[in-house]
Amino acid sequence: MEEVLSKAQQLKERLSEWRRELHRHPELGFEEQRTSEFVRKKLGDIGVTGLKTIAKTGVVALIEGEAEGPTIMLRADMDALPLQDEKQTEYASLIPGKAHLCGHDAHTAMLLGAAALLKQSRIPRGSVKLIFQPAEEGLAGAKAMIADGVLEQPKVDAAVALHVFPSLPVGAVGVAPGACTAFSDRFDLVISGKGGHAAHPHQAVDSVTVAAQVITAIQQIASRMTDPLQPVVVTIGKISGGYTRNVIAPSVSLEGTVRTLDKAAQEAVPELLEQVVKGVCQSFGATFHLEYRKGYPSVMNDPSLIPLLEDTVKDVLGRDVLKLKPSMGGEDFSYYAEQVPGLFLRLGVRNEEKGFVHPLHHPLFDLDEEALPIGAALLAEYALKFLRTHSAQL
Ligand code: NI
Repeated sequence: MEEVLSKAQQLKERLSEWRRELHRHPELGFEEQRTSEFVRKKLGDIGVTGLKTIAKTGVVALIEGEAEGPTIMLRADMDALPLQDEKQTEYASLIPGKAHLCGHDAHTAMLLGAAALLKQSRIPRGSVKLIFQPAEEGLAGAKAMIADGVLEQPKVDAAVALHVFPSLPVGAVGVAPGACTAFSDRFDLVISGKGGHAAHPHQAVDSVTVAAQVITAIQQIASRMTDPLQPVVVTIGKISGGYTRNVIAPSVSLEGTVRTLDKAAQEAVPELLEQVVKGVCQSFGATFHLEYRKGYPSVMNDPSLIPLLEDTVKDVLGRDVLKLKPSMGGEDFSYYAEQVPGLFLRLGVRNEEKGFVHPLHHPLFDLDEEALPIGAALLAEYALKFLRTHSAQL
């Protein structure tokens, strides 16, 4: 069964080439025109026909088996980040202020590799739906893909994706059973006081000191007001207000994010936040406007899909799957996993000797390309195993 890995190793150079081509030309969410065209071209070269373009730049391909059966969906995301690439490599980003620092270029290359491997394989029953999704970074491309019918025709029975993971060495594979990423919600808060002369605070309502109290007080949501066994993170990432040193600021704006792993905790926080902000503002005569928006749900890994991953990793790599803790990061694969059983795995890309040690979203993030054939082989082999097992159950 290591056969699939040796076939993938033969694609290694091509996988690196594809990844580097995408890496040099990063595109942001819903702007992935060039990337989308690249994907369609490569799928065509591989012999995958009947491609569909949905969700602006998303690509859907179907590899059908010899007879009808279940459908497994494999997903790659394609978008880059609005960050400056600071690497000094021949494949560094050519576009100022845009870079593939979350590895989505590698995800796209690996899924193309999986398509090539699947085309070389016999699929007696069922089909594999390969999807190349736009706009994972904050713009919920997955939601747009679902709205455009990606989970239908044929109906998807399970969805699988991987993400490069610089905390694990290349060759390692990990999964967090159950909750895998966090509910990622966001809020905007404006605290309004009354401006005045800095020397006469009693004639004003100082929105800066009220904001300081609010920032401190809302930390008690996590530490005192919610179940300590259910993680809650409340972070204010941006604060702005005021004019100059001798004027009391009439208002302060704050931007924050809330991360939770549990639905009940997620549901509880908005009210607690409102309650604390209201109490503090009222105490000091300030008013406020709070806007709370739910973001990506938590990715829930379906436990029924994990044993097959263990078999796949054993067969392809001769290794065990590492059990990981959930991450408080967000990931829009959750939208698929809400509708169908989902599996989101982490692929090791770290290599200390080669200097691939930086975390995702770091301006120096890079990955060991030895991981590319491994990822392609795992995706293809998981899909084949899934179709075999689930066809037998029909
Ligand atoms: Ni990512």
